[in-house]
Amino acid sequence: TQRTLVLVKPDGVQRGLTGQILARIEAKGYTLAQLELVTATREILERHYEEHQGKPFFEPLVEFMLSGPVVAAVVEGDRVIEGFRSLAGATEPTTAAPGTIRGDLGRDWGEKVQKNLVHGSDSPESAEREIGIWFS
Ligand code: GTP
Ligand code: MG
Repeated sequence: TQRTLVLVKPDGVQRGLTGQILARIEAKGYTLAQLELVTATREILERHYEEHQGKPFFEPLVEFMLSGPVVAAVVEGDRVIEGFRSLAGATEPTTAAPGTIRGDLGRDWGEKVQKNLVHGSDSPESAEREIGIWFS
């Protein structure tokens, strides 16, 4: 089995989509192993997004992630890292495939940041690193 870190980002929580998003994860057969509503801090986000430091979208991304609470979850299942990213869809919600979380529930809002509802770890190493940041 494998585990991944999933975040319902502030846009998902504010729009009241947490239940639908978690329901899709459970309906696919994955298990919620840990779940928490948290207000992030700049320190957590700078660690979480360390690969993006210095990119033009980094600061707007951090500000957005500080704009409201997020739901953090450890999700378990065979090949869940790949499986959840497939369920989430492409980064840009306007063109993410229908059937995915971002494709069905997201769109562009004309802002600097891609408000794309969810985060999912992209490798086993990222998953362990990110779980350590959000659940310590
Ligand atoms: P996550 O699951 O959130 O990590 O999404 P991802 O892996 O599809 O995207 P990535 O890790 O490359 O980027 C992290 C987040 O930064 C994205 O989810 C977006 O919110 C934002 N982002 C990434 N690339 C861009 C970009 O080119 N422009 C803008 N404005 N935002 C971006
Ligand atoms: Mg990423």
